[in-house]
Amino acid sequence: SAPHPTDLVVFGGTGDLSMRKLLPSLYLLDRDGHLDEGTRVIAVSRDGLTDADLRDKTSSAVRGHPAVQVVEPDVLRRFLDRLSHVTVDVGGDPAGWTDLSSALVPDRDRVFYLAVPPMISGDICRGLDDAGLVTPEARVVMEKPLGRDLASSQAVNDAVGAVFDERRIYRIDHYLGKETVQNLLVLRFANVFLEPLWNSRWIDHVQITATETVGVGGRRGYYDTSGAMRDMVQNHLLQLLCLTAMEPPATYDREAVRDEKLKVLQSLRPLTGDRVAEETARGQYGRGTVQGTEVLGYLDEAGGPAVSDTETFVALRAEVANWRWAGVPFYLRTGKRVGHARSEIVIRFREVPHTIFPGVDTGPGAGSLVIRLQPDEGIHLTMLAKTPGAGALRLRPVPLELSFADTFSTRSPEAYERLLMDVLTGDSTLFMRRDEVEAAWRWVDPVIEAWNNTDTTPETYQAGSAGPAGAHRLIGRTGRTWYEEE
Ligand code: BG6
Repeated sequence: SAPHPTDLVVFGGTGDLSMRKLLPSLYLLDRDGHLDEGTRVIAVSRDGLTDADLRDKTSSAVRGHPAVQVVEPDVLRRFLDRLSHVTVDVGGDPAGWTDLSSALVPDRDRVFYLAVPPMISGDICRGLDDAGLVTPEARVVMEKPLGRDLASSQAVNDAVGAVFDERRIYRIDHYLGKETVQNLLVLRFANVFLEPLWNSRWIDHVQITATETVGVGGRRGYYDTSGAMRDMVQNHLLQLLCLTAMEPPATYDREAVRDEKLKVLQSLRPLTGDRVAEETARGQYGRGTVQGTEVLGYLDEAGGPAVSDTETFVALRAEVANWRWAGVPFYLRTGKRVGHARSEIVIRFREVPHTIFPGVDTGPGAGSLVIRLQPDEGIHLTMLAKTPGAGALRLRPVPLELSFADTFSTRSPEAYERLLMDVLTGDSTLFMRRDEVEAAWRWVDPVIEAWNNTDTTPETYQAGSAGPAGAHRLIGRTGRTWYEEE
């Protein structure tokens, strides 16, 4: 359905996420004609900004955003006119709630976006409720981290759930807003040729990678209490695993899709006790050179302690214990400050059951389907082909390549554009349901606990390298290698 005129209230509205992602994405939606004329954005913070300050700040944020490129002055003006700022000190002076109340139009749709640390989400929801601002149709959007373990996640969910019912809660995992991620569902369920192969009979293993060249930047304070397992694996990587491993849902709607994802999470074989040491590897970046620039090691980054066991890299081997996937390892890997940024899902097919080309060197790398999220969104299939020539038969892996940029002349929207649009139209298919988030924590918690209970520490890897040696040993134990090293 088309978006209605909506009052979109962003708590943490002047913060990093809002300026880097939310407001530029809303500008792009406005530019492309997706925002109703009456839709307004009310940024809430403790900053005491005037509307003019907010508009200035937003204007620079929009101009500086890589996806914006050229700002259209008329569009920018129209967009900035939608913005206003209200100062609310959550838990402090109640006057802010009254100001917020007078800033809202009574008969509009309302969306409350909580771009704030999770521990204040509950207070905000209570504040909204006490001020009588929660209309029956009002929606709330929650950002990660959704807790730091199962218990804290349940506490946040309870606090928000006391005010908004589950259907009105939109939990963001921005990976689900990425074009290629949605394309994975289309690839699997709108085509007939993959499904018969999509099981342990034909698939040897799956690799899910999300590595970055950036470090923790100014987020050391947050990151030190989180680490890669909570920051990336619990949410983004497990969501990718779910979409890769799930059964076909009967319909493309919120409950059907999320039911299937939940079943995958519930089928994950628990990683506990001694198996944690065998099936996981942790790393922390040391100083090094990334893309020609010398960078600090994690412990030297400002804003955190000089001694810390926080992992900035994780590799692990997961198993989906069900009929489709029995015996197929899912290798997950994520890390900061490595030499190359790549986010991709690699499906590695088995060898043919019987070769009619004995003694022919096929070389490595054949039989992989790569779904590349970034950079260069696309789908890449390697298959063996005969190399031309009348001499001895030789085979070589050759690529079948689909590049979204080359195939479609339209721009791929930012993940946040898609998700904000879905919030505005009331479609929560690409958002996480409470039971999914909790099932993910249930699987992640024992791993972190086992790490904490040993006296081992994450292995230092040089910034700009391919990550800790342990990640290579982990996959190498079974004679396999990470995709890019084939
Ligand atoms: C966020 C993490 O959720 O995802 C960050 O908190 C990480 O640490 C980011 O850098 C990666 O997102 P993307 O879209 O750049 O792959």
